[in-house]
Amino acid sequence: MLFRRNGRQKQNVAHLQEDSGPQVVIDVQGVAKTYQMGEIEVNALRGISLQIHRGEFVAIMGPSGSGKSTLMNILGALDQPTSGKYFLDGVDISQAGDHDLAVIRNQKIGFVFQSFNLLKRTTALRQVELPLIYASKAGNRHERARAALESVGLSDRLHHMPNELSGGQQQRVAIARALVTEPAIILADEPTGNLDSKSGTEVLRIFQQLNRERGITTIFVTHDAFIARHTDRVIMLRDGKIVADKRVESPLMAGEVERPSEMAELEEIFRQTYDAPRAEFT
Ligand SMILES: Nc1ncnc2c1ncn2[C@@H]1O[C@H](COP(=O)(O)OP(=O)(O)O)[C@@H](O)[C@H]1O
Ligand SMILES: [Mg+2]
Repeated sequence: MLFRRNGRQKQNVAHLQEDSGPQVVIDVQGVAKTYQMGEIEVNALRGISLQIHRGEFVAIMGPSGSGKSTLMNILGALDQPTSGKYFLDGVDISQAGDHDLAVIRNQKIGFVFQSFNLLKRTTALRQVELPLIYASKAGNRHERARAALESVGLSDRLHHMPNELSGGQQQRVAIARALVTEPAIILADEPTGNLDSKSGTEVLRIFQQLNRERGITTIFVTHDAFIARHTDRVIMLRDGKIVADKRVESPLMAGEVERPSEMAELEEIFRQTYDAPRAEFT
């Protein structure tokens, strides 16, 4: 059973709010996550509060171990907070059972991972069809998978296996697979982390296009300050807390601006974020 914010019960996530206008799609309230490692408690998240509106394009940054993946797993309903509340599209994820979590993931969220997570010896077309099979979406599966691959520029690679594709192409197959169920939200944990800079830019261009043209709310983790400057908003984590949350002034368009030297770029982003007080999102 799913619980709405107002306490009314809903049996089915298919009837969630569909109003237009800027809506809060992700509402995290004082979320903490503690992992128990034998005797030791690891406080991976220590009181995160965060709202993301429909259609936002957000980068999450922070040092290794700062809690980025833990946060992404909670946002994606792969895991639940130890304390605090998380509402996804108005549904209280912190109270949902395993079955409901699975339904929500299938209906609302597309995941993209650093290591692509493609099946070996499976063609691009088949990889992208699989989520439709799991979602029991009958009919024109082929066409939908083909269209998703076309939208990531792979219409000439439908029958290739992963080992016949470059890293950038494999990640584009993974994006098509995330897209094919038409999720409202795409979550990507370091999607460009295993790619060279050119392929990374190509993947970024696709995310940017999906966000701008289809309004898909997109949240991704990156270590790369230059990539983060292509988004609308950068959230910085450190030690399980948000230390900065800022709008990006005039986001860059992927492929249009040369990457500056790493040092200059780092200095710029740290100046913009760590030194500034946390800005409220309006
Ligand atoms: N399944 C787990 N069990 C125990 N500790 C974990 C687990 N996952 C993450 N952690 C710990 O939680 C902290 C945050 O990890 P993580 O969210 O993976 O950080 P990031 O993605 O920013 O590198 C780290 O100290 C990590 O070791
Ligand atoms: Mg991580």
